[in-house]
Amino acid sequence: MTSTNYDGFAGIIGGCDLMRRLFALISKVTDTDTTILVQGESGTGKELIARALHSQGPRRDHPFVPINCGAIPAELLESELFGHEKGAFTHAIRTRQGRFELADSGTVFLDEISEMSPMLQVKLLRVLQERQFERVGGTQTIVSDFRVIAATNRNLEEEVRVGRFREDLFYRINVIPIQAPPLRERGADIVPLTRYFIDKFTSAKNRRAMGINDEAMGHLLRYPWPGNVRELENIVERMVILATGKELTVADLPEKILQVKGMRREVVDEIPAQGFALNQAVADYEKKLIVQALNQTDWVKNQAAQLLGVNRTTLIEKMKRHQLVKPQVTMSE
Ligand SMILES: Nc1ncnc2c1ncn2[C@@H]1O[C@H](COP(=O)(O)OP(=O)(O)OP(=O)(O)O)[C@@H](O)[C@H]1O
Ligand SMILES: [Mg+2]
Repeated sequence: MTSTNYDGFAGIIGGCDLMRRLFALISKVTDTDTTILVQGESGTGKELIARALHSQGPRRDHPFVPINCGAIPAELLESELFGHEKGAFTHAIRTRQGRFELADSGTVFLDEISEMSPMLQVKLLRVLQERQFERVGGTQTIVSDFRVIAATNRNLEEEVRVGRFREDLFYRINVIPIQAPPLRERGADIVPLTRYFIDKFTSAKNRRAMGINDEAMGHLLRYPWPGNVRELENIVERMVILATGKELTVADLPEKILQVKGMRREVVDEIPAQGFALNQAVADYEKKLIVQALNQTDWVKNQAAQLLGVNRTTLIEKMKRHQLVKPQVTMSE
């Protein structure tokens, strides 16, 4: 199985409008050396986007060097990034190159950049401006030609506002912002992603090809996916391991997916004294829910119908009655 069998771009599966716009943006900026900031909730595919930016551009034959700024203690991060000279500190028994040096002609991926200490933020700003630096404990100036892609699952503007992140550094790295959309805003991608992960895990585990029935898929479509694509990937992996039949069914779904309740939002606080036209109110409410389901699924009627728990033909009939047609979108940003 290869990801080319699926709608998507450079291993990023997705075909909804949001994702197609994202792919167009990625293609536009791969040829430049501009610094890119990828923002988005956990599990939305920020690292995948960073890797695509590297693998689709002219630096693809050079190293992609990731570093997780949140996972490395502040004292060590500096020497990880810039390298150190022998004897620079107690455990520096030999000279070591840093990630910026190793990424010469390639890309440095600064993951969880919001976690960088204020001291390192200053140093990073200088490196981004001058493209040169010294190893820890060294005096020799090192010049390296690297592109920087940064990622964060925090709202970096907010971090700037509360004083945890330097404003000047924010503007330096946020030259081209890329937003990785949460899975709940790209409902149309749940079906292809689920299929992709089923295929991925059945072939990885040498299992027979497997499908998923409509009822089970309906539950996956209704779940809000707080952990985004990573959560879907984990759930599909577990289902593939545990499943016995050749089709995944509701019986294979984890409890939390099944527990999603329908909407129970109150519609009106109180019925007005003069009363109101029930039929009109119900029709308005129905129209609102249908539009919402259609927007959530990129106007793919099959999926919108599954979301609403009605037949496709019923949905089409209701769409006609409410005169609903898909709005035209423009691909320009
Ligand atoms: N569109 C997608 N197509 C295929 N796989 C995806 C997609 N988006 C995410 N994934 C997969 O989901 C998992 C999480 O993605 P990734 O690590 O890129 O997320 P992230 O945004 O960096 O998350 P975090 O903020 O938690 O680090 C990975 O295994 C990745 O391969
Ligand atoms: Mg990540």
